[in-house]
Amino acid sequence: MQNTRTRSDRTHVPSVSPSPTRPLLKWAGGKRQLLPALRQHYPASFTRYVEPFLGSGAVFFDLFSTGRLEGCAVRLADANPDLIGCYRAVRDQPDAVIAALRRLAREHRARGSECYYEVRDRRFNPARAAAAAGPESGPYDATLAAMFIYLNRTGFNGLFRLNRRGGFNVPAGRYTDPVICDPAHIHSVARALSGAGVTLECMLFDAALGDTGEGDFVYCDPPYAPLSRTAHFAHYTAGGFDGSDQARLLAALLTGARRGASILLSNSSAPAMVKAYTAAPVRAAGLVLHKVPARRAINSRAALRGPVDELILTNAPAGARMQVPLRMLRAPLGSGDPHQLPATRARERQA
Ligand SMILES: C[S@@+](CC[C@H](N)C(=O)[O-])C[C@H]1O[C@@H](n2cnc3c(N)ncnc32)[C@H](O)[C@@H]1O
Repeated sequence: MQNTRTRSDRTHVPSVSPSPTRPLLKWAGGKRQLLPALRQHYPASFTRYVEPFLGSGAVFFDLFSTGRLEGCAVRLADANPDLIGCYRAVRDQPDAVIAALRRLAREHRARGSECYYEVRDRRFNPARAAAAAGPESGPYDATLAAMFIYLNRTGFNGLFRLNRRGGFNVPAGRYTDPVICDPAHIHSVARALSGAGVTLECMLFDAALGDTGEGDFVYCDPPYAPLSRTAHFAHYTAGGFDGSDQARLLAALLTGARRGASILLSNSSAPAMVKAYTAAPVRAAGLVLHKVPARRAINSRAALRGPVDELILTNAPAGARMQVPLRMLRAPLGSGDPHQLPATRARERQA
């Protein structure tokens, strides 16, 4: 399960993508729809970009695609080892990932959801378990990364969810002709992740934010604080993300802001977060709260989905953004937010 190509083996890659690089994965809470609002608060200049809740990386790919990361150090991190393992394999072995994904696409065309469940239960989960038991926790090879991408493209709304035993248990989605392998897209993602100053780590946000300060642009998109006691759409990791995590995150951002970092954070408009983000120490650190109307899928019943406010907390003045070429503003909104898994279907094919 070792990656065979090291970072130093990589051939030179241009730092700016010739066309916008879209996120590779669908991801719950993906921020492509919020980009127009977030862009308003990108700082005019910075020397390091830090994103500790990477997910599908909507903001990272947006910054990369518009040339804003040229010459910058970039720290990308997430607590999900499958996600980081997949990105590393794509970065280091894009051609091997593409070859494995092509084989899966052929199998899927022939056998549809039967292929999905076979890959999920007989190949992906056993290979993950073997990799996790190895000397380095979570190493991904190209075959495992291709399976992760295949399951993401064909599973229910691209969700990533584990059962109590740690097995991936998302049921098959209902797509007639999903795009499973797009070699040009995988190569452009590999280029974005291969930049000389880019690091990609599986770590908790506390570690990723520990040294932030002057010259840093820090974007945080934590699992959303639930809007109601019954809403659960943010179970990305076994540990979950509770009120004490939200409080620790805010404290780390205040420390970074006091040391001179540019801070940008998005979260749900849960009353507890509005209260926390408007408290005196937050205002004293120069952070201002903005509410943005956003259409977000927070309920499996379509009738109950609708516009909800999202919060943006930042010390960057609105309008400090760079010029974004028009063609990029027109880029299609791809992944969106997956919907909560309906309980009946969730139970249907649990591993
Ligand atoms: C809302 S998603 C980020 C979505 C991302 N902005 C995008 O555009 O796709 C939150 C991410 O935080 C990660 N996460 C959860 N708990 C974490 C923790 N304690 N430290 C770091 N990352 C964590 C999850 O794995 C998930 O990918």
